[in-house]
Amino acid sequence: MNRPSSSSEVPSPSGPLQVVVLAAGKGTRMRSRLPKVLQPLAGRPLLAHVLDTAHALHDARCVVVVGHGAQQVREAFAGVDDLELCEQQPQLGTGHAVLQASPRLADDGVVLVLYGDVPLVRAQTLQPLVDIARGGALAVLTVRLGQPDGYGRIVRDEQGRVQRIVEHRDASPAERALREVNSGILAAPAAALKRWVGLLRDDNAQREYYLTDVVQLAQADGVAVHGVVADDADELLGVNDRLQLAHLERVVQRRHAGKLMRDGVTLLDPERIDVRGELRCGQDVRIDVGCVFEGRVELDDGVQVGAHCVLRDCRIGPDSRIEPFSHIDGAVCGQGARIGPYARLRPGTELGRDVHVGNFTEVKNSRIGDASKANHLSYVGDATVGARVNIGAGTITCNYDGAAKHRTVIEDDVFIGSDTQLVAPVRVGQGATLGAGTTLTRDAPAGQLTLSRARQLSIANWDRPQKKPSTKD
Ligand code: UD1
Ligand code: CA
Repeated sequence: MNRPSSSSEVPSPSGPLQVVVLAAGKGTRMRSRLPKVLQPLAGRPLLAHVLDTAHALHDARCVVVVGHGAQQVREAFAGVDDLELCEQQPQLGTGHAVLQASPRLADDGVVLVLYGDVPLVRAQTLQPLVDIARGGALAVLTVRLGQPDGYGRIVRDEQGRVQRIVEHRDASPAERALREVNSGILAAPAAALKRWVGLLRDDNAQREYYLTDVVQLAQADGVAVHGVVADDADELLGVNDRLQLAHLERVVQRRHAGKLMRDGVTLLDPERIDVRGELRCGQDVRIDVGCVFEGRVELDDGVQVGAHCVLRDCRIGPDSRIEPFSHIDGAVCGQGARIGPYARLRPGTELGRDVHVGNFTEVKNSRIGDASKANHLSYVGDATVGARVNIGAGTITCNYDGAAKHRTVIEDDVFIGSDTQLVAPVRVGQGATLGAGTTLTRDAPAGQLTLSRARQLSIANWDRPQKKPSTKD
């Protein structure tokens, strides 16, 4: 970090921290119908990551400058509090973008400029810039790169003070050899920044109003410019195309995996897990390769998740085992569940303790009581199943009559033979047994055997039809 002695003329601002997020650019290289800042990273729009970081800075207020796909961005963030959007039409450069936000910024505060397509920067990296701006100076976040092509270069004087930032396209060969580049992120006292962006000119190679030219305007005002060098270049990676997006995805996933392991979770391979939301784990949770976690997932103590499972918005009780290739969405499983392999739990599924849901069984909008089992090839939908129920292979609740859904109620200790259809609405009384192959259309009384089956008969002296021998040789 380089902090020359301050020559600041700007009084130290005491007002609010105001974060301006630049998000109006087109993102041509994504080749997408979706505006760039809405492209998902770890399951959430790029812009959402930037806003999280902004909110992690104490008391920050956010103004997002939108342009391309403004309507889509507006809709995507409609429910978010403390967020102002302002439009930049047409997009005449980063300086022009900040100028559009300018009327919304309180003069007595400080401004931090972030980019909507630079999602990994951390609050702790930004805090020193905010502190410098609070001291009345201009701070720019820089980074040293092996491949600086395309970036603005940081030009320092002999004392190491930042003199100006020159865009790649405007740079001389000597300047292009500089490895310290502009991340684009900067912080300044609001009143000064507002004045500077009003003075920008577009006399450059791209005929744009460059935000970077505020460095020279600050100097002309006698305001100190501090170049803060970031330690971790990954944090400042931007997304311009899908290759960079994929690279950032791995960076984020490695961060998630690292945190999980530090918190005591076993990952069989930290390179093969994808968390696209919030994953909370208890003690001694073990996760095999290729699992995807979406939305809000909670795994209690001792849960084991087999390979290639997808879990979304669910809670898995202690010591449960999810066998490979299972898909769980919107379900709550009690302690000691055994799910899969190849099971599917859909929204509204609630399992008690020690419930088994086996291969190729689907459960939807149903409650299944303690110690009940549906181990093979069944569909349990819109059902209330009691405790200790055995649901035989190939059992189906026929919950849909083509117009409406109906419930099936199966009371405690019921035994359902294989290949049974329960045509809802229907109730199976406590302790009842349904014979294999039954199509149940009326309630089955408690404690009795109910079956619907054509009587079996055998015909003696019956000849199976024979093929006639061919007449040709
Ligand atoms: C900018 C910097 C460059 C820096 C680089 C880092 C300037 C002049 N240059 O260049 O020094 O090294 O970022 O990535 O600032 N945007 C708007 N409105 C506009 C133009 C851009 O909102 O009119 C937004 C974009 O959506 C994007 C950000 O500003 O989020 C950066 O724009 P981009 O065109 O990518 O800037 P660079 O040319 O890469
Ligand atoms: Ca860029």
